[in-house]
Amino acid sequence: VSTGADATTQRPDKAFSWIEGAAHRRERAGLTRTLRPRQPAEVSSLNLASNDYLRLSRHPAVLEAATKAVRAWGGGATGARLVTGTTALHAELEQELADFCGAEAALVFSSGYMANLGVTTALCRPGTVIVADQHNHASLIDGYALSGAAVHTVPHCDVDAVERAVVAAASRRALVITESVFSVDGDLADLPSVADVARRHGAGLLIDDAHGFGVLGPAGRGSAYDAQLSSAPDVVVTLTLSKAAGSQGGVVLGPRAVIDHVLNNARPFLFDSGLAPACAGAALAAVRLMRREPERTASLRRVAARLVAGLRDAGLAVGDAKGAVISVGAPSAEAAVAWAEACRARGVVVAAFRPPSVPDRRSRLRMSVHAELSEADADRVLDVVTATQPSTGR
Ligand SMILES: Cc1ncc(COP(=O)(O)O)c(C=O)c1O
Repeated sequence: VSTGADATTQRPDKAFSWIEGAAHRRERAGLTRTLRPRQPAEVSSLNLASNDYLRLSRHPAVLEAATKAVRAWGGGATGARLVTGTTALHAELEQELADFCGAEAALVFSSGYMANLGVTTALCRPGTVIVADQHNHASLIDGYALSGAAVHTVPHCDVDAVERAVVAAASRRALVITESVFSVDGDLADLPSVADVARRHGAGLLIDDAHGFGVLGPAGRGSAYDAQLSSAPDVVVTLTLSKAAGSQGGVVLGPRAVIDHVLNNARPFLFDSGLAPACAGAALAAVRLMRREPERTASLRRVAARLVAGLRDAGLAVGDAKGAVISVGAPSAEAAVAWAEACRARGVVVAAFRPPSVPDRRSRLRMSVHAELSEADADRVLDVVTATQPSTGR
């Protein structure tokens, strides 16, 4: 049998040789990423590069609940929940999340990324029109690409453009998809207006509240709750448990019929192992803490507002941040990385966001405020960020 190649043409070293060219191009554009060791918890620095907004990931009650969950249910979910069965813990977490966020029902996934892939592919198919904000997160973009739907991307936060797109969808099924708090600049979608437009034209609305959950609304019940949309029959919300809840996992919230449909159709639910028990236990404890101790959310919002005001007064190109996420424009990808390094050298850990993690190819310094930062900490962050800014950073 001929293999189609003789010994002289077999060059295993050639198979991935194209990668070298990609690495050179990446390097030249200042876009190379490397893994940096994470500082242990005991190292003191002002960390504004973590999504642990409420500082619950190490809360004793969260650690205790995660440990108890592992003892009761084991180190992993042991399979997809429709195959291995669902634990009482997962059911309790879903009930708690639905109740806290004001939705009829909830379904948890192994990550927020999977929840977004799952809900978009379950609700959309070729023939559906998706009307999507230009700044939507990669997990939503990947979801609508995978669904085969026709995608109409509208300019960022342009409600009139949303309306034109849903009108153009005419009799086709339409789903408007937006984040609540946009993950790069921390600015807010005008949810009441977007919901009104979607409703008037018979479209559904999917809100990714990854950065609103735990941060906005009473006690951190989220943006959809705050906008009185969480129990609406035409609204579906996704959350992640990896930010304010200090755990991992994703959530879809919505009317019972929608949740049942997602459970039956979302391939990332059907074919992915369930949320690990430790994460379910940790998240359940975290949501109960949010309910009991709303002052964490209040303190985060106060300190974030102070930092935004200070950055703006200092003349920096700060976005219209209303939650925990604050971004400041940088002149280039290299400048963003160097700026973040200079801050780190002075004990303030912030992130440099570069393409493809930004929606408009403009790099930024990105900070996320957490509930244990004091006002004095915010002032120190402000001093360091302004003192280290690149000369053309304004
Ligand atoms: C807006 C948004 N949606 C979804 C996700 C994905 O969540 P997870 O990290 O749980 O996969 C993120 C995470 O960065 C996000 O910012």
